[in-house]
Amino acid sequence: MATLEIHDLHVSVESETGSTEILRGVDLTVKQGETHAIMGPNGSGKSTLAYSLAGHPKYTVTGGTVTLDGEDVLEMSVDERARAGVFLAMQYPVEVPGVSVSNFLRTSATAVRGEAPRLRTWVKEVKEAMERLEMDPAFAERNVNEGFSGGEKKRHEILQLELLRPKVAILDETDSGLDIDALRIVSSGVNRVRESGDVGTLLITHYTRILRYIKPDHVHVFAGGRIVESGGAELADKLEAEGYEQYTKGAAS
Ligand SMILES: Nc1ncnc2c1ncn2[C@@H]1O[C@H](COP(=O)(O)OP(=O)(O)O)[C@@H](O)[C@H]1O
Ligand SMILES: [Mg+2]
Repeated sequence: MATLEIHDLHVSVESETGSTEILRGVDLTVKQGETHAIMGPNGSGKSTLAYSLAGHPKYTVTGGTVTLDGEDVLEMSVDERARAGVFLAMQYPVEVPGVSVSNFLRTSATAVRGEAPRLRTWVKEVKEAMERLEMDPAFAERNVNEGFSGGEKKRHEILQLELLRPKVAILDETDSGLDIDALRIVSSGVNRVRESGDVGTLLITHYTRILRYIKPDHVHVFAGGRIVESGGAELADKLEAEGYEQYTKGAAS
């Protein structure tokens, strides 16, 4: 059973003014089949956690460990992490000019699966996944994220998720900027992947709205670069009612 284990993770970012510690001792275990919601105020370090797990070079791990099935994730390159089964849907997906969605997906699948998918089954796979996400087939020929609306970007992320079938899916604010129909479609995509039972999901969100569609097994409050409270789905209701203030008041920043 695939398990992501994060232990006492410390991460800093470098800037002209020096090094700033953003993550201050994150402890979290995500098992296959589980969904963990990470909820916290803006600037608490949620995206930093997502990027650090995916191996973004801008973030320096200064302490702690991250393992997937006992393998040291922090030792792996970005590509190796993807191949090991770590998937990140970014909060702000980047444009890839000159590369079509279709080529991008095939290249990603080839990299992750270790061999090029058979063309005939692949075309069918993509077509069906796009239909489920209510995406226009013409979308496949557009350049990745170029001129995409917020909703199109997020659907494209979930399309990748459905096709790549990772062991650990990190979804950073996948709900942001979605209208209610897009939220429903995107959530049902996440739920389909979840129901396959073999993915652990880290659902990062600021708002509780998406949790009406994707039911988390565990909810964690993230503040000041660490998890400050953990509970079940009921913790999200408490956050909805009371906000984050109680966690940010008096927190060292
Ligand atoms: N690449 C970066 N360079 C400088 N500061 C950063 C960088 N990434 C994040 N930070 C800082 O780290 C803190 C946490 O940011 P972030 O992880 O984006 O929080 P969240 O996703 O919870 O809103 C913020 O103060 C932000 O300004
Ligand atoms: Mg963020």
